[in-house]
Amino acid sequence: MPKVLLCPPNYFDVVDQKNPYMSREVAVDRVKARTQWESLCSVLQQNGCEVEIIDPVEGLEDMVFAANQVFVGEKDGYGKFVVPSRMVYASRHREVPFYLDWCRKRDYHVVELDYDDDYLEGHGDLLWHPDGSRIYAGYGFRSTRGGVEKFAAAMSKMGIPVEPLQLVDPYCYHLDTCLCPLNNEAALIFLGAYSTEALATLHRLWKRVHLLTADEAHRFMGNGIVINGSYITPHLTTELEAILHREGLRPVIVDTSEFEKAGGSCFCMKTFLP
Ligand code: ARG
Repeated sequence: MPKVLLCPPNYFDVVDQKNPYMSREVAVDRVKARTQWESLCSVLQQNGCEVEIIDPVEGLEDMVFAANQVFVGEKDGYGKFVVPSRMVYASRHREVPFYLDWCRKRDYHVVELDYDDDYLEGHGDLLWHPDGSRIYAGYGFRSTRGGVEKFAAAMSKMGIPVEPLQLVDPYCYHLDTCLCPLNNEAALIFLGAYSTEALATLHRLWKRVHLLTADEAHRFMGNGIVINGSYITPHLTTELEAILHREGLRPVIVDTSEFEKAGGSCFCMKTFLP
């Protein structure tokens, strides 16, 4: 049974502008946020996931975005491991120890990086290939090129290749907003989010590349969760539906409007555990 970690939105809020979606003028409806978060949990459960919970912490308004604080994985000979993130924003950086403790209590091997001036934002910018054979690493807005290089050096010791991808669209400030692996051969991407070199890398590594429009990407349709033949997405267009159909996936819509005000949607709100 796949395990997935989420954090309840008890203290979720938009208090500053960490990305272009956020605006202090827009109020978050916490009751609605709670309902949306609960439906995401139930859809994950209906798709065969065991949902694990980390306790929310007062004052950590973005802690609900469980994809960022750590990077987790499993590798033969190393077991379950966790790489703590270095978050750009101070309030988000304070979330990291809580997630790290959670993993420590469950016997993850901790891979510490010496970040110095660099940043790395967990599964927001680091995506596993579905079969675990490589990791895609976005940089440019949050994670830095140096952070990705330090991460790549640590992963290479475990024999896991890392593919750096430069991001250029501020609305796609994390890789999980513009790259979504659908299976081992096909991915959804938004062309406008990448440097020329990054695009060449993506075309080299994926057999089928399906394109999202800017509108689809900026409405988080590439921030979906692939699980059990479902694609959990906040919105759907006929074009996206056709792509999913071709890849044998059925769309499941979960409203995440409150979380989109903070620049995140389905994928950002969870971490799959090894
Ligand atoms: N407000 C959060 C931030 O800007 C949103 C994080 C979204 N997470 C993600 N994995 N894309 O840090």
